[in-house]
Amino acid sequence: MAEQPRRSVSLRVQLSLAFVVVALLSVVVVAFWARQVTALQIAAYHERIRLGEVPWISDQPLLVREGFVRAIKLPLFVASQRLFLANFNRSLWFAGGTATLLAVIAGLLLARRLSHPLQELHDAVTGVAAGNLQQEVGLRGGGELEDVASAFNTMAHRLRESERQRQELLAAVAHELRTPLSIIEGNLEAMLDGVREPTPDLIATLHTQSALLSQLVTDLRDLSLADARQLSLSRRPVDLVALCRESVDAMSLWIEEHKVTVEVRGEGDTTADVDPDRLRQVVQNLLHNAVRFTPAGGQVRITVKEIARDRGRWVALEVEDEGPGIPPENLTRVFEPFYRADPSRSRASGGTGMGLAVVRLLVQVHGGDVRAENRPGGGSRFVVQLPAEEERAPHKRAR
Ligand SMILES: Nc1ncnc2c1ncn2[C@@H]1O[C@H](COP(=O)(O)OP(=O)(O)OP(=O)(O)O)[C@@H](O)[C@H]1O
Ligand SMILES: [Mg+2]
Repeated sequence: MAEQPRRSVSLRVQLSLAFVVVALLSVVVVAFWARQVTALQIAAYHERIRLGEVPWISDQPLLVREGFVRAIKLPLFVASQRLFLANFNRSLWFAGGTATLLAVIAGLLLARRLSHPLQELHDAVTGVAAGNLQQEVGLRGGGELEDVASAFNTMAHRLRESERQRQELLAAVAHELRTPLSIIEGNLEAMLDGVREPTPDLIATLHTQSALLSQLVTDLRDLSLADARQLSLSRRPVDLVALCRESVDAMSLWIEEHKVTVEVRGEGDTTADVDPDRLRQVVQNLLHNAVRFTPAGGQVRITVKEIARDRGRWVALEVEDEGPGIPPENLTRVFEPFYRADPSRSRASGGTGMGLAVVRLLVQVHGGDVRAENRPGGGSRFVVQLPAEEERAPHKRAR
């Protein structure tokens, strides 16, 4: 449990005090200077009278003037100076007191206005820290306060979104693990009870299910490593056309079984700094889907070509098939983990729905991207684009 921070004086009190101190300081400075300047002004006025520079006195005949000055100079002017300064000081203190009072009221109001959105933000952040992600703060206070509130709302929204995805993924993982496990369990129990014979066919079924589980675990590990950016790549310059041909050769028996032909073509410089094992996984997953969805007698085409992008050399890898294509609303969803177009989520058509999610993450850790589209003449096309040189990789991953 984190140590509770020492509760210091609240922002509202600090701001109010600051306003009061500023008001007091201004009053004291103004009073001090006003007093000094007034005393100097009065002394200078005395001097001008003494020198006969004040007009109504200087208009008098010399004798009257001197007598007048002498008569009133000391007692009268000193007394009037004191009286004036006393009155002046009193007015100053009154003005100062009023100003301080107004400063306290204005300070309290302003401090309340400033600290209220911060208090609200503090409550919301505490709520998120305690696990309540349904937090939203009002956009109040203007300027930076509003910016912070809006950034908080965006953060809370993203947290909610990723929490939702995490829960969906967990539910999907549980669902996907349960089916093969229950098939294995059921059959093993039947064998133990003597209800079923361990025939080669039955053992093959069990083997298929355990292979499916093993593939699922590998895919999940790759996904989580790539997600945490811990998937290490050993990049080196690789000719992607050669890599595609190798992948097709490795799957040739399975491709022949499906009675589909695969053509690989290259255009321009198709070498790129990639991890060949990871890229082979990308090509094989795409090829696997393309062949599976192409009817017997059809053709799958892989085209690798050099393209210019982001002021650098990139390589595009396109896999085109003659299958049914993908409904436009699912073109981005097919990359989600466990997504299958078949709503019954049956395994009749093959896999676990992880293939394209793995493809997307592997391409993204290479700094590239992948998209699905429908070909005008029918069938689908998956386009992978990769930066040819590692230092050009933007290292960004859109989720
Ligand atoms: N070439 C394609 N043509 C039509 N639909 C496709 C194609 N590739 C993928 N899809 C759709 O996208 C879904 C997700 O594909 P993905 O490769 O992720 O999973 P999968 O092939 O079902 O299982 P896995 O690849 O894990 O064995 C597929 O179930 C299918 O509905
Ligand atoms: Mg697949």
